Amino acid sequence: MGNSTEPEKIGGQEPGKCSAPPEQILVVGIDDDATILEFYKSVLGSLGVRYESSEEPARGLELVETLDPALVLLDLNMEGMDGLEVLEHIRARNIQTQVVMITGNYSIETAVEAIRQGATDYVCKPVSIEKLRGLVEQARLAAHHFQRAESLEKELIQVFALEAIIGHSPRMLEVFDLLQRIAPHFRTALILGETGTGKELVARALHNLSPRKAQRLAVCNCAAMVESLVESQLFGHRKGAFTGALEDRVGLFEWANGGTIFLDEIADLTPATQSKLLRVLENREVHKLGSPQPQHVDVLVVAATSRDLSQEVKSGKFRPDLWYRLNMVQVELPPLRDRRDDILLLCRHFLDKFGEEYAKEVRGFSPRAQNALQAYTWPGNVRELENVIGRACMLLRGKFIDLDDLPDSVKESALSGSDSTLTMQDAEKVALLRTLGVTKNRVLAARMLGISRAKLYRLLEKYGIDSEASADEKQEESDSFTFPPDEHLP
Ligand SMILES: Nc1ncnc2c1ncn2[C@@H]1O[C@H](COP(=O)(O)OP(=O)(O)OP(=O)(O)O)[C@@H](O)[C@H]1O
Ligand SMILES: [Mg+2]
Repeated sequence: MGNSTEPEKIGGQEPGKCSAPPEQILVVGIDDDATILEFYKSVLGSLGVRYESSEEPARGLELVETLDPALVLLDLNMEGMDGLEVLEHIRARNIQTQVVMITGNYSIETAVEAIRQGATDYVCKPVSIEKLRGLVEQARLAAHHFQRAESLEKELIQVFALEAIIGHSPRMLEVFDLLQRIAPHFRTALILGETGTGKELVARALHNLSPRKAQRLAVCNCAAMVESLVESQLFGHRKGAFTGALEDRVGLFEWANGGTIFLDEIADLTPATQSKLLRVLENREVHKLGSPQPQHVDVLVVAATSRDLSQEVKSGKFRPDLWYRLNMVQVELPPLRDRRDDILLLCRHFLDKFGEEYAKEVRGFSPRAQNALQAYTWPGNVRELENVIGRACMLLRGKFIDLDDLPDSVKESALSGSDSTLTMQDAEKVALLRTLGVTKNRVLAARMLGISRAKLYRLLEKYGIDSEASADEKQEESDSFTFPPDEHLP
């Protein structure tokens, strides 16, 4: 359809003259005055910008949530919901949309409040065409930067991945380093870590990084096997070896010959199977059930458990010789709560994964959802995090995951932040220390906390907080007055 002699126009401008990147952006207008919305429509239409609008603040919010516009032109005084309230709702959920407050009555206080709440600009009516054009270009540029940041984040995930394992915390970088060093040489390796820390992922990575990559990887969950069939499954059997053995069966060791076998939940093996396994590891031979002839096998063995094997050895449930044998190379995966730096990277990774799976454009997390995800203790580790993000992506209607899209357990951690174990007294002490840290001045701190100076001094004494009066403070103490006066404060 394009005419080769005619330069393609972008946003009403020729490409060479376009100062902003050429993204097609969407603008939403929210105003209870229909003529203003019409005005936006005609100007934005002439600029080639997509536009949606609503006279109803609640409906406008819905549009913002579902359409994720680059720019919202938001009236300050509306019936039903105040513009600042709409702004607060938008900001809580969405971090990329630019919100410009439009007002008929300029007030410096409201302007400051709007900017403080995250408005990009505060503009008086009537809005000129030039101003609108400027706002659109600014939003286009911001959308471009946001997209660039998103794609950099995706690249970052690639950088901080070893095989399919994602992590950039110092603990995980150590694990990556260890895996890369052992993969070319190991014959047996033991992976330890709580449930959901990625033991199977690491086992697969070890195989893929080993010289046996092109050979088979047999995965065997020792806990899931029927006890009476474990040996037959691992080592195979000859026809007639036991009742029900109607034909020869190849065991996993033989099947994976030349490759790798992953023995998951190794602590669940019975003592009899443990000793047979030890023999396989030591002699590289398997005895098929019912066969007098041992068979040579050459496999790499990766074992994993979430139990404390040294404890199992002490209590006599696990053979010490097998433990020593497996323990020659040990990889310990830290629980997620001990590598919080990885949480947001993993969240981003699963967001991309599930967004693709559910064919949804999920762009990110609201700041408060991010806080909750980071503060939660993740007893189920990465598996739990994966499930939480998967569920949120599946149910999500908008483009950003908010607090309400997270399960109660995670949501609750947002209320307490990282201080999830604080008592009221601890919280009081933390509030004192933080406020003094910011103000460096006890008079100001008392004012910020909304308590009298006398009460502040009592609390400092109670918690043994040693704070010297600053020079400013001494001056202020002598000539300041407090509003409300101290005697009216608690
Ligand atoms: N570092 C990681 N990067 C990306 N995905 C991960 C990571 N760690 C775990 N996962 C994912 O979390 C889920 C659980 O991982 P995995 O099955 O390897 O854990 P596990 O330690 O074997 O758990 P269990 O002890 O319960 O068997 C998998 O879907 C896995 O892909
Ligand atoms: Mg596992």
